[in-house]
Amino acid sequence: MEDIKIPVHVAIIMDGNGRWAKEHSLPRNEGHRKGTKVLEQIIKHANGLGIKYLTVYAFSTENWRRPKSEIDGLLKLFKRYLDEHIKKAHKENIRFRALGDIWSDRIPDELREKILLLENMTKDKKGLCFNMAFNYGGRDEMIRACKKMINDIMLKNIPYDNINEELFENYLDTAGQSDPDLMIRTSGEIRTSNFLPWQLTYSEFYFTTCLWPEFTPQEFDKAIADYNIRKRRFGKSE
Ligand code: IPE
Ligand code: IPE
Ligand code: MG
Repeated sequence: MEDIKIPVHVAIIMDGNGRWAKEHSLPRNEGHRKGTKVLEQIIKHANGLGIKYLTVYAFSTENWRRPKSEIDGLLKLFKRYLDEHIKKAHKENIRFRALGDIWSDRIPDELREKILLLENMTKDKKGLCFNMAFNYGGRDEMIRACKKMINDIMLKNIPYDNINEELFENYLDTAGQSDPDLMIRTSGEIRTSNFLPWQLTYSEFYFTTCLWPEFTPQEFDKAIADYNIRKRRFGKSE
């Protein structure tokens, strides 16, 4: 991986846990459990490569449509992740941030408290910033951002003409972060499923048929290598 351009921000749609479980005659939640292990490896790898932001889609606003047993399993895995990282936060250099509506009534209080605690414990960490998108939906994020912006506009008497892209971005869950350079989706689905519609506008997309529980640092490197041969123009001519 010499002379390679490392993207500043990588976003991942971790998809295919259910199909992986099915292929191995296991319950869906076993696929999610294996997926969490893979995630841990990818976070470490991304941090080692010097990537600044890693954003993963862990649970969408639409995923509440799944059976209660599966949702409970996913909430439990998230809680376990938080517990483990709260315990070792002092010896890690990774910053944790949650994207999505963590204030929703559907998020158990205990989980919200752990999210806020880990965010706070890691807020000054200088390594990778790891964004976990949980109860995240891009449309929901934009509506929540609009509400916060309108509230500020009224309270602070901000002139209507001051509304522009820069101002709006301050109200998104990713405020202060650069947009993803590369977006990876596993499992062969070629869609974004309500993931970061504002921020992915100019990202490079990489789709692989690899199922998330089988994703490896080597697969991640393949995506980075592919990113390196892309020509980004941002609307300009050569
Ligand atoms: C991704 O895997 C994890 C979540 C959406 C929580 P899926 O559970 O969507 O797996 P498939 O797509 O059914 O294989
Ligand atoms: C997107 O995957 C959400 C996450 C990976 C958390 P889904 O499996 O929910 O997406 P669809 O339903 O196939 O579009
Ligand atoms: Mg899926």
